Parts: sequence; structure tokens; C-alpha cells
Amino acid sequence: MAEIIQEIQDRRARRAYKESPVDRAVTERIFTAATMAPSCSNKQPWRFLVCDKDPALGKARHALNGGNYWAKVAPVLVVVTTRDDLDCQLDDDRNYAQFDTGMAVMGLMLQATREGLFAHPMAGFSPEKLREAFHIEEGTRVVTMIAIGHPGDGANLNEKHSESERSARERKPLDEVIQWNHWSQLTPD
Ligand SMILES: Cc1cc2nc3c(=O)[nH]c(=O)nc-3n(C[C@H](O)[C@H](O)[C@H](O)COP(=O)(O)O)c2cc1C
Repeated sequence: MAEIIQEIQDRRARRAYKESPVDRAVTERIFTAATMAPSCSNKQPWRFLVCDKDPALGKARHALNGGNYWAKVAPVLVVVTTRDDLDCQLDDDRNYAQFDTGMAVMGLMLQATREGLFAHPMAGFSPEKLREAFHIEEGTRVVTMIAIGHPGDGANLNEKHSESERSARERKPLDEVIQWNHWSQLTPD
């Protein structure tokens, strides 16, 4: 029987990073994988601000929330952005920019996993700090930040995060997320 793709199984949102730099060729391969994602009318709405040198890296680190202290060790921080007008905007309120950008991020994370790296997406940051630091214009959505780097020993992690490095993946059972051939209305979690 065919198995789940190895990189999909292996990818986890890990936090034990090492500060050692990521080779530029490897980083470029990761972004090449990201940009192979499908998008509505092939609009390719993703725009990445890659911070791997100071002062940019310092500014990106400064935008992270306290709970994401561990990401300050990562040698690469990516600011993932898009704009609604870079992608399909359909009359019935379907805007595909963030959806397509998310697919690109998945490609990025899977390639990073293939390269033996961690790539951890984060919502815990201040878009305003990034806007100010990098002069990101209004209308451009700052969707997520991603910490990329080599696995470390986790000595800097708090107890909760140390434990979560060793935890099994938690997922809802399939019958909670799939409805076969019939729709029952969704209820809030
Ligand atoms: C949009 C998004 C935002 C996230 N924000 C954070 C974050 O700010 N800090 C953090 O430690 N993890 C963050 N995560 C990681 C999730 O907590 C993690 O993916 C989830 O618990 C499932 O674990 P897994 O990725 O190891 O399977 C984020 C993930 C996504 C997709």
C-alpha cells in the first residue's frame, strides 16, 4: 500500500534551533519548492522577505512575541506576505491570495524538512513592527513568519516547549474533518 509522503510525516513545528547559518543554495532551493505551488490563474501571489543577515534579521527578531523567544535563535526568519490584488478576487467574495500563499508555505516547509532543517510558521509576531521596520506598505498582508534553521539541542527551551519537542503529533480524527457525500452543519469547536 502507498504510504504518506515521508516529508509530510517528518515535518513538525519544532523549536530547538541551532544558530549556525543555512547555506544560501539550500535556502534558494527551499524557495524554489515554495514557488512550485499552484495558484489561481497562475498568479503566484506570494512575496517573501527573507532575513538572514543583520540588520534585517535583528528587526525581524524584534517583531516576535515573547512566546516565540525560541525563534530568535533561528538564522533565517521569513516574513510571508501577499496582497489580495495579486491573486484572483471573485465576485462572490472569494479571494485566493492567502490560500495560494499558504500552499507555497507548505512546499517551503516540506523542502526544508527534506533538507534536514526545521521550518516553523508563526502567527505570534507584530505585523505593525514589521511594517515599520521594513516599510511594508498598507494593503500588503503580513500573513506569517517562518523560522528556518538546523536542529539544535533545545537547551534554551522552557519546560513546556522541551516537552513538546518530544510529543507525538495531535490531530482530530478523520471522521471529524471529512463528511462523505452529505453535509451536516458545522458547530464551533
Ligand atoms: C498559521 C500558524 C500560526 C502558528 N503560530 C505559531 C506561533 O506563533 N508559535 C508557535 O510556537 N507555533 C505556532 N504555530 C505552530 C502550530 O502550533 C503547530 O503547527 C501545530 O501545533 C501542529 O503541530 P505540528 O506542526 O508539529 O504538526 C503556528 C502554525 C500555523 C500554521
